[in-house]
Order: sequence, then C-alpha cells, then structure tokens
Amino acid sequence: MNSEIIKEIIKLKQQKNAVLLAHYYQIAEIQDIADYIGDSLNLAQAAQATNADLILFCGVHFMGETAKILNPSKKVIIPDLNAGCSLADSCPYDDFKAFRDAHPEHLVISYINCSAQIKTLSDIICTSGNALQLVNSLPQEQKIIFAPDRNLGGYLNRITGRNMLLWEGTCEVHELLTAEQTLKLKLQYKDYKLIAHPECNASVLELATFIGSTQAMIKYVKQSSDKKFLVATESGIVHQLKKDNPNKDFIVVTTDETCACNDCQYMKLNTLEKVLHSLQTEEYEIILNEDLIEKAKQPIVRMLEMSRSLGLIK
Ligand code: 13P
Ligand code: SF4
Repeated sequence: MNSEIIKEIIKLKQQKNAVLLAHYYQIAEIQDIADYIGDSLNLAQAAQATNADLILFCGVHFMGETAKILNPSKKVIIPDLNAGCSLADSCPYDDFKAFRDAHPEHLVISYINCSAQIKTLSDIICTSGNALQLVNSLPQEQKIIFAPDRNLGGYLNRITGRNMLLWEGTCEVHELLTAEQTLKLKLQYKDYKLIAHPECNASVLELATFIGSTQAMIKYVKQSSDKKFLVATESGIVHQLKKDNPNKDFIVVTTDETCACNDCQYMKLNTLEKVLHSLQTEEYEIILNEDLIEKAKQPIVRMLEMSRSLGLIK
C-alpha cells in the first residue's frame, strides 16, 4: 500500500517539478522520500535556494510560511493546515507588540518558531542552530528581547552571561520532559550519554553531555566515540540517528515509561496519504500578503546573512 503511494508521490513530484522539504520530526516514511531533510536552519536555506515550481513543506505551518517568505514567487503547500506549533501559538501578535513597544531600546531576536506576524516585529530571526553565535556577535551592552522560547532564551542567557528579556513561551514537547524522569533514566542506563535540545528546560539541560539543535545533535552523535545515547527531544530525530549510526543505541527520554509525549502532535499530523493528496490537489497553499512577506523577510534575511558572515552556513 505504502509503496503504491510512494510511487505516485515520486511521479507527481517529477510531473509538477515539485520539491519535498521535510523536518527531522516528520514520520520516518516522509523523511525517506524527502528531497531535502533538515532542521529549521537547513530547511530555510533549502527553501530559499530551490528552483522547483512547487514547494511541498512537510513540517509545521510556520515553516511553510518561512519558505513562502523566502521564495514568494513559488507556490508553497503543506499537507495539513492544522499542523501548528504550541511555541508559535504562545506568542500572540498584540501581546508581543505591547511587550516590544514597552522596551523601545531593546533589539528583538525571535526564534524562527513563531508566526509571520511576530517576524514582522523582530529585528533578527534565529534558529537553535545559530542562536548562540548570533547573540554573541552583538555588543555585550546591547539590550535584547528574546522570544518566544523561554527555555532556549534562558539557556542562551546562562552561557553568554547576558540578561536578555524573555518571552514566556514553550514548546509543549520539550517542556514536558522532566529532570526527575531524565535522572531516573540516567541512573538506569549509566553508560548512556544524554543529548538534549535547548528547548528543554534548564533542569534537564543541566544533565546533558551535549546540547544542540537537531542538526547539531545528529552531527555530534556521528562524530562521537560513544555508542549509547539518551535523547531528550522530539522522537523523529531517532530515525536519522539510527540510519547514520546502525551500531549505536538510542533511548528517547519521555515524561513517563508509557507515553509517546515526545511525539510532536503537529509534526505527526502529516502522513503519506496527506502528502499524496497535497501533491494531487496542490492544497493547502500558504497565502501571505505582499506587505507581510516584505516585513517578515527582513529579519530572516538578516539571520541568513549574519550566519553566512559568521561561517555557519554557505
Ligand atoms: P530545530 O529544527 O532548529 O532543531 O528546532 C526544533 C523544533 O522544535 C522544530 O519545530
Ligand atoms: Fe512546535 Fe515543539 Fe512541535 Fe517544534 S516540536 S513544532 S516547537 S510544538
């Protein structure tokens, strides 16, 4: 059944000169048919660079928006319009505008996991793959608002010695992981090294051997001589970790032994059937007005330019 769907998806992709971009949090079957798989930073670059006529973005809504903003002449579609993000939702436009306006001397750095409207209120966008270097490239005395993820912002404050003002948003997947459960697993699996995404809260991060973006964790595990890892992030990453390291062992950290709570409910809305439907119908299109695109584009382009000049991307 899946093989028929996959054949049809490949045929339609060719016919329509479409590119399928997928985040590492997608189900394994979608990761395996993607033309390009990456974390938020890689995917933003791929969306900007593509020559395809149609971009099918398998991730969540804000990622589709980012692709449209960076490449507005292309048609961008996503398989399920309900694929949102708790972190993006935790930062409503009016509230954030009032917060920003109350701090006019502050530069606004927003994590890419936010709506296009929030991007228009931001000076620089960052991802977990470049946040540290972007923040470090700014003068120490520069006042900064960091939004919307308080965990990533808190982590950056701790390692840079800054005092950025933080918006109180969280990712529901990473926020649910607790130090108690993580510690329990560490005691149970003593020879496993903990790797964690900076969207986890501080008490989990304190237990980690390595902290980094999705791509950084994948790179770290590949280069590490260690063979066993506890993984504190969304479950989808394990597919790539296993592919790259068939002889290494991975245990995902969850809130308790029984739950699948580190599956992002939004990322996992996308299925092969929906990908096929999306290619057949060219639904659901990301439509943004020109003014919004123009304003939201500036801080994203600034991020890409700064990342290039810092040697983080090509
Ligand atoms: P990265 O892709 O930057 O690691 O972010 C993880 C995430 O939560 C994406 O929704
Ligand atoms: Fe949003 Fe968290 Fe899901 Fe990423 S994993 S899309 S930040 S809810």
